[in-house]
Amino acid sequence: MSRWSKLRRPSTAESLPTADVTQFELLARQRLSKMAYDYVRSGGGDEITMRHNRQGFERLQLAPNVLVDVSRIDTRVNLFGSELDSPVLLAPVAYHRLYHPDGEIATARGASAAGAAFVVSSFTTTAMDEIARNTQRAIWFQLYVQRDRAFTKDMVQRAVAAGCKTVCLTVDTPVLGNRYGQLSFGLPKELECVHLRGLNLGAPTPGHKTQRGRIYDPLFDPSFNWRDLEWLRSVAGVPVILKGVLSPEDGKRAVENGADGVIVSNHGGRNLDMVPGTIDALPRVVEAVGGRIPVMLDSGIRRGTDVLMALALGAKAVFIGRPYIYGLAAGGAQGVERVITILRDELERAMALTGRRSIAEIDSSVLWGHGAAGKKTLQTPAAGA
Ligand SMILES: Cc1cc2nc3c(=O)[nH]c(=O)nc-3n(C[C@H](O)[C@H](O)[C@H](O)COP(=O)(O)O)c2cc1C
Repeated sequence: MSRWSKLRRPSTAESLPTADVTQFELLARQRLSKMAYDYVRSGGGDEITMRHNRQGFERLQLAPNVLVDVSRIDTRVNLFGSELDSPVLLAPVAYHRLYHPDGEIATARGASAAGAAFVVSSFTTTAMDEIARNTQRAIWFQLYVQRDRAFTKDMVQRAVAAGCKTVCLTVDTPVLGNRYGQLSFGLPKELECVHLRGLNLGAPTPGHKTQRGRIYDPLFDPSFNWRDLEWLRSVAGVPVILKGVLSPEDGKRAVENGADGVIVSNHGGRNLDMVPGTIDALPRVVEAVGGRIPVMLDSGIRRGTDVLMALALGAKAVFIGRPYIYGLAAGGAQGVERVITILRDELERAMALTGRRSIAEIDSSVLWGHGAAGKKTLQTPAAGA
């Protein structure tokens, strides 16, 4: 029995779910080791923010318009110069070979087949140029800044040389969250974070093991701050997006400091617990940014209607994390492709049923109580700054 899978029987396209992306979680759970499954599923603290991510969407309601000719639905978007089939992208997730032997290559192939962009983690277990060779679609690079800035610069420039169209700087992780479900996690010896090769950590093998009693991790530079952004922009030479903004003040600072985009994210509820769900934080960040740079969102997206609601509140695109990782674990490239396809179909269906034919036609009027469909009966809870 292989380490990644508890089942011998490979998944075929026919055996994968054709609707409801949440069904992939059970399949993944049957295949993954307990340690790997817990690593993916769990969140920070008491997982209250993880729940807020879903509850935020559940509180919203849609306001359909009828008798619109919806015989053609167009979900295409253009982001940072890349034409994408839909506004659903794959969020950066560490260690894909932990979930499937083909790792990031399977993800790249699945994303390519489904027409989605893929943000590759700094903790990729496959080299960036190999990933690039396996997709016809855009890839972006997610950066965890390392204490060794020359090493960081080199890592960014190798990713850009391999074809990454943007650098997505993760700003919500100067230290890791309290992840009680991951206390026993260690990266298996056979797996390597290939882009960290040669990094002198002054500590044992990477794998999210913090030293006992200390909050710092050798893999994250806790000193990186707004003043360093200029340096990163100058070495990247491609758009730099900040992933992990929640407060309107930080949205404004992002613009002032030259960021090219922000992702409203709480890391899928994996870092600081007790922050709001991202759909609740989104409106105030959108307002603070004032259309000067694109605002995107992740954390908790599980349905096409979630995508529609995020766009209605001003997101230009959304990212999924766990859903496609469960797809990868369940069925490799085909599983990833299927998850993306299901979400796109659901988005198209939601657009048809609300009378919105293109992404440009989606605005707050598609939310009940926000537009023409009645008074402000439903308030979006104020985002916590
Ligand atoms: C297993 C796992 C590993 C992750 N690794 C990274 C990472 O390496 N870099 C990063 O910026 N975010 C990472 N994230 C956060 C995701 O990019 C994303 O913000 C989150 O998964 C979105 O929430 P969702 O899982 O509810 O869709 C990870 C998330 C998961 C579940």
